[in-house]
Amino acid sequence: MKKRNFAKPLSANTHLLRWVEKMVALCKPARVHWVDGSKAEYDELCAEMVASGTFTKLNAKLWPGCYHARSDAGDVARVEDRTYICSLSKEAAGPTNNWVNPYEMRKKLRDLFSGCMAGRTMYVLPFSMGPVGGPMSQIGVQLTDSPYVVVNMRIMARIGLPVYAEIDKGEKRVVPCMHSVGAPLKPGAKDVPWPCNAEKYIVHFPETREIWSFGSGYGGNALLGKKCFALRIASNLARDEGWMAEHMLILGVEDPHGEKTYVAAAFPSACGKTNFAMLIPPAAFKRKGWKIWTVGDDIAWIKPDADGRLHAMNPEAGFFGVAPGTSVKTNPNAMAALAKNTIFTNVALTPDGGVWWEGMTDKPPAECTDWQGQHWTPEIAKLTGAKAAHPNSRFTAPASQCPSIDPDWEKPEGVPLSAIIFGGRRAATIPLIYQAFNWSAGVYMGATMGSEMTAAAAGTLGKVRRDPFAMLPFCGYHMGDYFRHWIMMQKKLTATPRIFHVNWFRKGADGGFTWPGFSENMRILKWIVDRARGRTLAQETPIGWMPSYEDIDWTGLDFDRAKWDGIMAFDRAAWRSEVIGHEELFIDLHDRLPKEMIYERELLICRI
Ligand code: OXD
Ligand code: MN
Repeated sequence: MKKRNFAKPLSANTHLLRWVEKMVALCKPARVHWVDGSKAEYDELCAEMVASGTFTKLNAKLWPGCYHARSDAGDVARVEDRTYICSLSKEAAGPTNNWVNPYEMRKKLRDLFSGCMAGRTMYVLPFSMGPVGGPMSQIGVQLTDSPYVVVNMRIMARIGLPVYAEIDKGEKRVVPCMHSVGAPLKPGAKDVPWPCNAEKYIVHFPETREIWSFGSGYGGNALLGKKCFALRIASNLARDEGWMAEHMLILGVEDPHGEKTYVAAAFPSACGKTNFAMLIPPAAFKRKGWKIWTVGDDIAWIKPDADGRLHAMNPEAGFFGVAPGTSVKTNPNAMAALAKNTIFTNVALTPDGGVWWEGMTDKPPAECTDWQGQHWTPEIAKLTGAKAAHPNSRFTAPASQCPSIDPDWEKPEGVPLSAIIFGGRRAATIPLIYQAFNWSAGVYMGATMGSEMTAAAAGTLGKVRRDPFAMLPFCGYHMGDYFRHWIMMQKKLTATPRIFHVNWFRKGADGGFTWPGFSENMRILKWIVDRARGRTLAQETPIGWMPSYEDIDWTGLDFDRAKWDGIMAFDRAAWRSEVIGHEELFIDLHDRLPKEMIYERELLICRI
């Protein structure tokens, strides 16, 4: 078959053609490749990366269609301290974002990108966040010198020919996304498997809706449709256009009547978001006819329909999930989703051509090659503490392969949203479940969310880090204005979703987690759905509505009343210091904090 001429533009849009020309002149790539998004192109790029040493093809019998990549040891995670919101004014970005004057930043970027793609291919990668042509969907074009990015984006977003067709209609604004690993190749020089640059910049220009990412090939830094577009730029679009871009999973709860209730949930990282999105109910619930359907595991775009009811859409097409801890016990749906056609990054390679990570099996393999290419055995791990897989190692898997994927997950207008859940990792104070009194109390709940720092992050172990709406690293403008946007959204609605807070991580006197979590979270989810549908009563407490022991379906679980009382206890003294913690966040945001937040705090203080 004759090879396609990759340099031939696949779009007739003059703005796009001119922009590509300009960027070619700036970045000076050796060649340009217009990505068509086909399977043949994907296979060819993967084969090229196998040949260049970036990819290892896994044993096709054990892991059909799967590849493994090992990143540079200094390019393993999002770089929050190198992430910038360069709005025209510093105030618009707010105190929780890094800001540099956009004129200065543009100068810096021009220098960084000048000649940065020498010796490499510039891929023109058109993508749609959300189904192509959908009313809630948005389009971007990423110019990148990373074939790893192209193949990952083919899983995570809708890319290629249908998106060019959408661009050529000229009806939708296209977000330009510049990306380079920042490692120009000198003529004749040998490439490394994972080119990147020690200097990294992840830059957003909210007013002009632009993204410029330099120096990293990894995940949230480089797959620009995800955190950069679908959260940081989209949060700006959403504020201006009257919708919401949220760091939330979306799931559907099917009850024994066959009715489905959709719920969105925001949790900071390391709180089990992907597991919750793919929850399998306990046997007793399954027998009764309960089932969980997955719509998305990370991002939700939420918009009122013509009748004033919120609908939620997952703008992504894949899961970019943390591998360690994922197993057939903790998340069989994720394991099925990643069993084929998946790209693994920084997990361990087993001698039979498979992959492994901590927590995947009870018994580790006798030996493997760790994420840095070193020989690893359980004995070595005992002596040195070396991990086989990096704690932030990932799988990039097509959402369509998830057995629990909702039949409506690609519905262009999204699914109707009945409840919103906030959560965090809190050893004390915060009960297992409570419901906000109303929308503004719910906004206060989201605004004051916090999670204890784990050993994985720098900081004081166990100290509560406030992470409003789990959006601290992802909100593309002033957090106080973002709270106001949430408050204002209610005015567009005829029915507001009910708002809840969960804490699966409260500890008992023995220092262990009281709540078994995982599948058993279904019991709490049932109460949430019953509340949202007005099927069950609740008790009023100073912090919100709570179920009593009898309101929870305990069939098949031995969880006594004493444990329940412990995990649901309202501790007045602890809440006093909790509220003082809220004030610390509010002081930072004082100049743009909506009045409602101050009044909600006062009301809470009065009640406790
Ligand atoms: C993610 C994150 O990767 O939130 O989803 O960091
Ligand atoms: Mn996330």
